[in-house]
Amino acid sequence: VTIHRGDYRPPDWQVPDVALDFALAVEATRVAAALSVVRQADAPTPLVLRGDGLTPAAVRVDGEGWNDWRMDGADLIVDLGERTAATVEIDTLIHPASNTQLMGLYASNGMLCTQCEAEGFRRITFHPDRPDVLSRYKVRMEGDKAAFPILLSNGNCIAKGDGAGGNHWALWEDPWPKPSYLFALVAGDLVVNRDSFTTMSGREVELGIWVRDGDLDRTEHAMQALKDSMAWDERVYGREYDLDLFNIVAVSDFNMGAMENKGLNVFNTRYILADPDTATDVDYDGVEGVVAHEYFHNWSGNRVTCRDWFQLSLKEGFTVYRDQCFSADMGSPAVKRIEDVRLLRAAQFPEDAGPLAHPIRPDSFQEISNFYTATIYNKGAEIIHMMATMVGADRFRKGTDLYFERHDGEAATCEDFVRAIEEGAGIDLTQFRLWYSQAGTPRLTLSLAQESGDWALDVTQTVPPTPGQDDKQPMMIPLKLAAFAMDGSGAALPETLVTLTGATQRVPLGAFAARPALSINRGFSAPVIVDFARADGELAWLAANDDDPFARYEALQQLMLDTLVAAVSGKARGSQAVIDAIGQTLAGAATDPAFVAEAVLLPSEAFIGDQMVTVDPGAIRRERLALQAAIGTALESQWRAILAGAAPPATDLSRKAKGGRRLRGVALAYLAATAMDDVPALAFRIFSDADGMTERQAALATLAHGDSDERVAALDIFYQRYRDNPLVLDKWFQVQAWSLRADTVDAVKELAQHPDFTLANPNRVRSLYGALSGNQAAFHQADGAGYRLIADLVIALDPKNPQTSARMIPPLGRWKRFDDARAAMMKAELERILAQPGLSRDVTEQASKSLLG
Ligand code: ARG
Ligand code: ZN
Repeated sequence: VTIHRGDYRPPDWQVPDVALDFALAVEATRVAAALSVVRQADAPTPLVLRGDGLTPAAVRVDGEGWNDWRMDGADLIVDLGERTAATVEIDTLIHPASNTQLMGLYASNGMLCTQCEAEGFRRITFHPDRPDVLSRYKVRMEGDKAAFPILLSNGNCIAKGDGAGGNHWALWEDPWPKPSYLFALVAGDLVVNRDSFTTMSGREVELGIWVRDGDLDRTEHAMQALKDSMAWDERVYGREYDLDLFNIVAVSDFNMGAMENKGLNVFNTRYILADPDTATDVDYDGVEGVVAHEYFHNWSGNRVTCRDWFQLSLKEGFTVYRDQCFSADMGSPAVKRIEDVRLLRAAQFPEDAGPLAHPIRPDSFQEISNFYTATIYNKGAEIIHMMATMVGADRFRKGTDLYFERHDGEAATCEDFVRAIEEGAGIDLTQFRLWYSQAGTPRLTLSLAQESGDWALDVTQTVPPTPGQDDKQPMMIPLKLAAFAMDGSGAALPETLVTLTGATQRVPLGAFAARPALSINRGFSAPVIVDFARADGELAWLAANDDDPFARYEALQQLMLDTLVAAVSGKARGSQAVIDAIGQTLAGAATDPAFVAEAVLLPSEAFIGDQMVTVDPGAIRRERLALQAAIGTALESQWRAILAGAAPPATDLSRKAKGGRRLRGVALAYLAATAMDDVPALAFRIFSDADGMTERQAALATLAHGDSDERVAALDIFYQRYRDNPLVLDKWFQVQAWSLRADTVDAVKELAQHPDFTLANPNRVRSLYGALSGNQAAFHQADGAGYRLIADLVIALDPKNPQTSARMIPPLGRWKRFDDARAAMMKAELERILAQPGLSRDVTEQASKSLLG
């Protein structure tokens, strides 16, 4: 069944109050729900309560047993006659231990926890379960005190006590009306890291991060990130926290990263737990970013929520934008921007160019879980970023102030947000709204023109057709640019923000004696692809001289990309320009190692493939490794110098120390691409001497590509040391699935049989199979074994966890970009998946759309 955005109708019934009573047990939990319902529709109309796998054990209306109900599929329809208000009570019995979908109430390591977004609440009790139905929740839970010493829900704990037979109970009340997707309950044997935060108006907030015994000393970074986030949202957006309590619980089995339930965030352990011995710098940044993201949702998501799920980017795009700005403020803005753009290009551009392309505000879906995508999240964030760029920080703040003030307590739409920015910031966004409705990455084609001594830039924009959208209109695109004379005269067009609105546009650049070097899309001001043929010398000049660090990064990446694409197409043009530019960039390593490490990294195999009409995975791997080896050899002394000093102590998490470690990892990878025989020993020494996970993992990953005895030894040492730490064991699976070795597909097949591998844990599944599908040459191995392996996984996982299974499908949907033989095999696997009986809605939607192309 396809649901259409245009079919939205306001709810017939509101539910101002929800009272839930849980009799908790891992095998079977009884849920007694009392919903106060108030009719909104003018005429009598039945109450439709959504359910998923539930049977009502009893239905009462205003305290009386009630027979006027029926099931409509999984939903419960209660006929309330002429009533305009009533209290409807329903009892259900649910089974957390056998809930392998990890949606609704489920068991993880003996504890009970919930995940309700988007439509999991209906797996707990019957309810309208739509985000425009907001209720005040009162939650009582009772259970065995020994099994569940800690009982948590949203809001404040207002009473607790002991019950019969070793039980205890707690009563929680959340004063803020919220949609059902923000409900949460946790019961288990947990320990807490406690802290507090005083808000700007002087409210004392008690903070708690709850984890399993033994994990407490790995929660400090998350706690610091939480306090930093609370202060940042006050300072930058004027948003204050609104409860006396803020709890976070870390759970090992979790489909996504984390969840912003009101006052009770639930997190994947991987975004909470961190210490230098077990977490890399990247992991630390992930913790900080996700803690901030979920905290920021308290305003962008909870206080102002979404009217319907088509508006998902209203909260996700804006909140990603907010967490990106926060992380930029906490660290290096330039490096953060590079990372965000790299992620956008790796995950979102391919989505926008493939069969699953959708606008950030989709028009239809079959299963909303399939729309928690890079488009909704990351392209959505870029759309907010563009608005902020066009109006500037102060006016943007006026716009968001108006948005929060106007829509506080409401379920809003993307249109509401745009209108608030228009009015608050004073800008006409009529044409800009196309970013919400048109899918596909706009492509700008540039050329320089000369008019009597003055130079101008001609820009043509096209938005490619996407499924269901053949014809596109020109978009409003804020493009930051600058131009420089390369002759040393210092002539320049300083940074200018040009707003493109037409299909073609001429931008005057001013007088230059010769063709100027153009610095284009500075800071990545718009999420577009720029086609602009530039000489190596011009790119090298920009890589060395541009005053925008992001543009310097882009120029060097473009130079590498041009070189690699030429090589893969058999038009070898030598690597000297790249080697010289990298050599020059490395000179800045001491001042800003983090930036330099990003800048000298070769584009990924996938991104090289994205530049080609038909991807040739084997040739891309070969040429990329060849260029890496050439750079490794030519700049050997510089790489060795970077590795010669001691690594910064793992406990030093300063920008500089993190950058230093990152650069050491890059240096080691360059050396490893060469045939120098001392490299395995060098990598093994770094692996053994490492005082933290960043160095250890980088060395292990480098060794894992090779064929040395050191590789076998390091993998074994790592496994023995960390076999009891699931998050680190994930890394052990991951580095092997990332390996550039020719036998990686077979290795993955074998690892899937390893006693520590399990389909029950989404992190473990992603660490093995997700890493494989990100390994282009392995996944696209010519005999199709990579495709078969992923399809087998999808089929095996779907009955247990359709949401995580469906997430593995998109790589199979890129068949149009590959040669006929590969395309045929990819399609055959999609067809094999679709032929499975009893396939979930999640997998059916992704596989059938992927097959259409
Ligand atoms: N709202 C959560 C976040 O972005 C993610 C929820 C995931 N839900 C889902 N059905 N997959 O922080
Ligand atoms: Zn979010």
